[in-house]
Amino acid sequence: MRTQVGIVGAGPAGLMLAQILHLHGIDSVVLECRSREYVIERVRAGVLEQGTVDLMIQSGVGERLAREGMRHEGVHLAFLGARHRVDFVGLTGKAITVYGQNEVVKDLIDARRATGRPLHFEVEGVSVHALDSNTPRIRYQSGGQEHELVCDFIAGCDGFHGICRPSIPAGVLTAYERVYPFAWLGILAQAAPASEELVYALHERGFALFSMRSPRVTRLYLQCAADEDLEKWPDERIWEELITRLAMRDGWKPNVGPVLQKGITGMRSFVVEPMQYYRLFLAGDAAHIVPPTGAKGLNLAVSDVLLLSRGLAHSYQSGRRDLLDRYSADCLRRVWKAQRFSWWMTSMLHRQDDGNPFDYRRQLAELDYITSSRAAMTSLAENYVGLPID
Ligand code: FAD
Ligand code: PHB
Repeated sequence: MRTQVGIVGAGPAGLMLAQILHLHGIDSVVLECRSREYVIERVRAGVLEQGTVDLMIQSGVGERLAREGMRHEGVHLAFLGARHRVDFVGLTGKAITVYGQNEVVKDLIDARRATGRPLHFEVEGVSVHALDSNTPRIRYQSGGQEHELVCDFIAGCDGFHGICRPSIPAGVLTAYERVYPFAWLGILAQAAPASEELVYALHERGFALFSMRSPRVTRLYLQCAADEDLEKWPDERIWEELITRLAMRDGWKPNVGPVLQKGITGMRSFVVEPMQYYRLFLAGDAAHIVPPTGAKGLNLAVSDVLLLSRGLAHSYQSGRRDLLDRYSADCLRRVWKAQRFSWWMTSMLHRQDDGNPFDYRRQLAELDYITSSRAAMTSLAENYVGLPID
């Protein structure tokens, strides 16, 4: 079997890449090791930058997003029992949209199906070969048979735990990493959102985040230990802790309801350089991870594949490789700015458990400064709504 671009992974990066390539008339095969149901039900990100929304609409996959996505014109930063609004539209002219990553993935899968181009779920034993040749190959098993896909290019969109990045020979990539000594315990609850906008809170007992998925579903997170045992968190304990950290002096607190789903997410900053090895290109979480406090992961995955699709289209149209050769450098400039922002938001909003009260006082001063200085608030806002893609 032959294709122009072999795409490993049907997360936001792989599926979005497949869609944009389709619009350029470039064929691809998408290979995913999980089932369609698993991919669609996996609850993850929720915040889309305006650039991500615009790209989805331009790419013909934004119809339901435009209808059901919740446009948010600001967020709240909460500390010492009070909320302070950051007015994104007033400060930057841009907004964000709250729309679940699983909805994005669902829309992209539906769009892929409509093109009739191949998307294979539950493939096994995926491996990549001949990466430094002009015809790199992907081998995999599906339906009990061995397959070999001969490609012009391979896109490694297989997330942090995928096989593409580790298939690059040792010594080629440099990894930069920071692992944080805490994690997030997240729940999805059947409860109407009590606020129209997100609330990021720093409390003496740790960070908490109020978010949402729909007019009937609230999404909440609280800072917990890096090795936290979910078994030790019955629903009542989760709600008690969330209310303690999120209840404000003016009486605001999240609405409580049945817990639909819960899980723990580790916190890591990670980048590999370069994001390319001959004809293998890494995109999204396969190349970089950010802690979720800045809501950047999905958006970075989308901006990577936009740049990759431009490079590939340019190469097929002109026979020239200059744009493709710049892929890694162009992505990394944006990736590192998102890394900086995500690290900064994380450091500002989480308790460091080292027994020294200095940092908490400093963090409160930082939040006080941010929420009272237009210049500081504008800096937060322009990063949160998304820096220009190029
Ligand atoms: P993934 O979504 O990980 O997709 C990779 C795909 O490859 C998966 O479907 C996987 O099954 C498949 N795969 C893996 N290995 C193989 C293989 N060997 N063969 C075939 N397929 C393979 N980001 C934001 O922008 N905003 C947010 O608000 C936000 N909140 C988050 C909250 C949480 C709790 C978490 C966990 C993450 C959050 N993120 C957020 C990050 C965001 O979810 C990721 O950055 C995003 O999923 C990256 O997309 P991706 O396509 O690169 O990788
Ligand atoms: C979410 O709604 O899941 C969400 C929102 C903001 C973040 C992270 C996650 O920073």
